[in-house]
Amino acid sequence: MKDRFHRRNAAIASSLAAIVKPAAYFIILLLTYALGYLSSSPSTSASSSLSPPPLNSDITSTPPPYHYSTPDQSQLFQVTDTPPELNQFRIKTRCSPPIPHQQVRSTILQNVFNGQSPFIDFPQPHVAHLLHPKKIKGWGSNGAVFRNLVTQVKPRTIIEVGSFLGASATHMADLTRQLGLHTQILCVDDFRGWPGFLDRFKDLSMINGDVSLLYQFMQNVVSTNASDSIIPLPFSTGSVLDSLCEWGVYGDLIEVDAGHDFNSAWSDINRAHRILRPGGVLFGHDYFLSADNRGVRRAVNLFAQINGFKVKVDGQHWILVSP
Ligand SMILES: C[S@@+](CC[C@H](N)C(=O)[O-])C[C@H]1O[C@@H](n2cnc3c(N)ncnc32)[C@H](O)[C@@H]1O
Repeated sequence: MKDRFHRRNAAIASSLAAIVKPAAYFIILLLTYALGYLSSSPSTSASSSLSPPPLNSDITSTPPPYHYSTPDQSQLFQVTDTPPELNQFRIKTRCSPPIPHQQVRSTILQNVFNGQSPFIDFPQPHVAHLLHPKKIKGWGSNGAVFRNLVTQVKPRTIIEVGSFLGASATHMADLTRQLGLHTQILCVDDFRGWPGFLDRFKDLSMINGDVSLLYQFMQNVVSTNASDSIIPLPFSTGSVLDSLCEWGVYGDLIEVDAGHDFNSAWSDINRAHRILRPGGVLFGHDYFLSADNRGVRRAVNLFAQINGFKVKVDGQHWILVSP
């Protein structure tokens, strides 16, 4: 009898344990999830109380104005309150101090062309048959602005951002020669033109997708006897202008005439201005061009406004003038 009583108690205890154990696990699991959720997820109202970083603050040390969103809250965010002040658009990188004019040519040859002029042994046989003896086409490349500025500034170093076939570069080489200046003209261009430009320049050759613009540019420089004064820099404008800044190569006269959309013009103007010698002049083409809703003009005007320049117009060219 006693034995039967014990067996019944044991059976009740084991069925109780079978019910209570999973319930306990379930409650612990629920608590853990709730605690984790509360501690990891900032609510929308919490994020909107973040304030924008103060002006001129070190961006790395100040939390950005995030607005967290779902689903992956640690990676996806929307910036909601970037300060609108123009000061935010300034580029603040400092360049190396300017090297003397006499060192400009050797510095470029050393850093870009293994110490040798790219015109040595030009043109090679595999290129020669592609070239026109002289094919120079530009846009406003002989405008009065060039003579005016070369005469005014008497530049020892000119940087041209966007050279194409060398029309404006060879014209400036001619002008500086007439004035007896020993000027180096650095021509920054990737020499790719723009997509589809061969439709308008059908007599330039294309080999395996290469439009041979660099070689025709060099041929034009050779045919105008300017290979001692003109050096091509066949890369993107951004990378060349940053390298010149790093090497301390500054221009007395800098012409910007590469990409004509706002973003390209804005970036080129900013980068060019960093390497303008004190007393030098920054100018460029196509102030009136309608491309990108007059992107060049918007970039020039914004830059002038932020940096306290006035804009002077000479033909289709813009010139930044200190007030
Ligand atoms: C309008 S053309 C320059 C014309 C030249 N100044 C003249 O008057 O004969 C523009 C040139 O900028 C170059 N260009 C445009 N965007 C560039 C970029 N991001 N980097 C390098 N070259 C670029 C093109 O290859 C083209 O040759």
